[in-house]
Amino acid sequence: MDRTFVMVKPDGVQRGLVGEIVSRFESKGLKMVGAKLERLPEERIADQYREHLEKPFFPGLKQYIMSGPCFLMVWEGKNVVPIVRRIVGATNPAEAEPGSIRGDYALDIGRNVIHASDSPESADREIGIHFTPAELVAYTRIDQGMLYE
Ligand code: PPS
Repeated sequence: MDRTFVMVKPDGVQRGLVGEIVSRFESKGLKMVGAKLERLPEERIADQYREHLEKPFFPGLKQYIMSGPCFLMVWEGKNVVPIVRRIVGATNPAEAEPGSIRGDYALDIGRNVIHASDSPESADREIGIHFTPAELVAYTRIDQGMLYE
């Protein structure tokens, strides 16, 4: 089954949005296989955002991610990467559709509440940065037979 990495950023944690966000993925039928609340060290932020290290926004992004704890998750399901990206909405909240997480809860690209991997390759890489294999839990959702053909 496909997996993706999702992170509620410090603004989402501080604003008490973790439960609402988890609920959206759970209701969709996706399976949470890993989760933890953590302050990210600088090296892991640089690793996760390695393509953006030279971008002008990177210092501000790093400061934002380090400003408080993040809630890190791994979600599993068929086509989970594009499905989660649609639930999350466009990177810039001004362009995110109403009904998406960023469309409903964010205003500014620099405080966009949540991160989700943009491809299966990024998902594998980001899961590897933040989780050990032992932190990912194998189990069957009781409704799994109702969710897939
Ligand atoms: S780019 O330049 O188009 O490749 O960047 P983009 O894909 O839009 O964004 C990459 C990540 O950087 C975050 N970002 C910002 N953070 C803070 N401030 C500003 N101005 C800013 N611009 C982009 C953006 O939210 C992406 O992070 P994630 O965590 O993947 O959403």
